Amino acid sequence: MFRTRQRKVGRAVVTGAASGIGRATAVELARRGADVVLVDVDGAGARAAAADARRHGVDAVAHVVDVADGRAIEAFASEVLAGGPVDLLVNNAGVCVVAPFVATTSADWEWVLGVNLRGAIALTRALLPSMLERRSGHVAFVASLAGLVGAPAMVAYATTKFGVVGFAEALRVELATSGVGVTTVCPGYVRTGLHASTRYGNDRFARFLDAPPRWYGMTPERVATELLDAASRGGGVVALGPEKLGWWLKRLAPEAAFHVARWVGGRVGVDAASTAGAPPRAPRPGRAAAAPPPH
Ligand SMILES: NC(=O)c1ccc[n+]([C@@H]2O[C@H](COP(=O)([O-])OP(=O)(O)OC[C@H]3O[C@@H](n4cnc5c(N)ncnc54)[C@H](O)[C@@H]3O)[C@@H](O)[C@H]2O)c1
Repeated sequence: MFRTRQRKVGRAVVTGAASGIGRATAVELARRGADVVLVDVDGAGARAAAADARRHGVDAVAHVVDVADGRAIEAFASEVLAGGPVDLLVNNAGVCVVAPFVATTSADWEWVLGVNLRGAIALTRALLPSMLERRSGHVAFVASLAGLVGAPAMVAYATTKFGVVGFAEALRVELATSGVGVTTVCPGYVRTGLHASTRYGNDRFARFLDAPPRWYGMTPERVATELLDAASRGGGVVALGPEKLGWWLKRLAPEAAFHVARWVGGRVGVDAASTAGAPPRAPRPGRAAAAPPPH
């Protein structure tokens, strides 16, 4: 069984490890004694995060890999497995589109589906067989509360995150007797760089996420700790943040949850009536590596 408590536990692969939740997870794993392989399209960020991890006395290497590139994933997996077994895979790399559905382009869809969903599936498919052979290992996913509750202006993002949650749930059942565990964390708002690379179709929502109230949002370190604690307990789904009330309400009274979400969408100004005709805004400069192809 994969364990992460205060001693050398093996080797972990973390995607999207150059910043935010991925970086915090890689560093926390190192603090708990695991060697880490950091994957990102941002090579400089991944190398800096690897240097932070090495301060804890473990091996940490950075790989520049686009998780949406199937061939690159296969080559990466072969190289990593040639260096030894992988005990934990954290599928964390993610990008976001916040725009009315009718304003999202096929390039937007290709981008979020490729990184958030197909990337996680491809890397899991590449690394899982070696875990199954050893009857040991753990696969973790950083999904989102947007993968548990539908929210306006997040149709594309929510589609990918519902996909991740469903993939992970089915996989967990299938692997129940295999010795390989599955964990899915579904955070609400986390204070990371994600919002800087998000494609927005609504200025009001963009402004709110650029400068949220001081009290709002979790730290990426909290998400990392919750993820690794859940993995060491054997896995399952963990919802994080005050927004998880929406998920509880949805399970108790789905129609009431719909009306609450609809009311919030209108108040924040991201429902169809408020956003009609708004063109998607380009991502901010500095995050071009994570941006979709021109369209
Ligand atoms: N920040 C939030 O509010 C929040 C809430 C819920 C879930 N999440 C999820 O958490 C995960 C991590 O996001 P974060 O908030 O730490 O954002 P972040 O932008 O700080 O980190 C995401 C990392 O993924 C990398 N990345 C992007 N495209 C990639 C690709 N094609 N291949 C490899 N790496 C790629 C980026 O370079 C970046 O380093 C994402 O899956 C996101 O959807 C974030």
